[in-house]
Amino acid sequence: MIKIENLSHTYRDREKEAIKNINLHVQKGESLVIIGSSGSGKSTLLKAINRTIEPTAGKIFIAGEDILSSPNKKVRQIRGSIGMIFQNFNLIERETVLKNVLDGRSRYNNNLNIILGRFSQDDYRVARESLQMVGLAAHEQDRVANLSGGEKQRVAMARALSQKPEVILADEPVSSLDPKLMKEIMDLLKNICDEKNITLISSLHFLDFARQYSSRIIGMREGEIIFDGSESDLTDHDIVNIYGKTRDWYLYGKLGF
Ligand SMILES: Nc1ncnc2c1ncn2[C@@H]1O[C@H](COP(=O)(O)OP(=O)(O)O)[C@@H](O)[C@H]1O
Ligand SMILES: [Mg+2]
Repeated sequence: MIKIENLSHTYRDREKEAIKNINLHVQKGESLVIIGSSGSGKSTLLKAINRTIEPTAGKIFIAGEDILSSPNKKVRQIRGSIGMIFQNFNLIERETVLKNVLDGRSRYNNNLNIILGRFSQDDYRVARESLQMVGLAAHEQDRVANLSGGEKQRVAMARALSQKPEVILADEPVSSLDPKLMKEIMDLLKNICDEKNITLISSLHFLDFARQYSSRIIGMREGEIIFDGSESDLTDHDIVNIYGKTRDWYLYGKLGF
């Protein structure tokens, strides 16, 4: 589903590479969790896959298509097949739940219809189905601004699902939520992706979460992948390697729920 070869990225005016020589193959339907301290390059890697940044070197193939040298139209198409979920939800707060979820249908519409906010019956049907999946069917006319954090993340999930994505990239999807909601949201996301055979790549801070929600864990440190294996392969030695012997070890490695 995703093949990454020798991928590196250096941000402008920075000397150090944010990600360095990343090689990664992800199969369809896998559930991959990226762990690592703040600044280890998790978000940069996800942004490169979604092509919100143009990496300085390397190649990314999604479903066999080279996304870095594809024409714009193709890139839009590929991007449309990737749903994104962020820590801070990235919703339009003053709009209704339904309107936000319909945004996920943009890939199926032309620009004029998007600008005019015109959506087809089919778009409405899919948006409502997605809201049903995340348990928010009764809230479609609510303003996002009035929702709780957990509900907002459900809206973001429904928006991603209404794209009918092949892949969902979730960058710290539960970092803004309290522990109980963290589990609720991750359970929901993981179950839906399993059921629909959607490839899920999330970055998560807490190790217990990474263990619980992954079929495979990627450990990053200073822009490099230093662990790639299953939850049962991850030793204490690996964990110290990933987080370093810093406060993070205690914070992310040892704190559990
Ligand atoms: N927009 C940016 N401009 C410059 N440097 C950045 C930018 N975003 C991230 N970085 C740097 O790139 C490195 C990796 O950051 P990031 O991918 O955000 O890590 P993580 O998501 O694991 O916290 C860090 O050193 C960070 O300071
Ligand atoms: Mg990040």
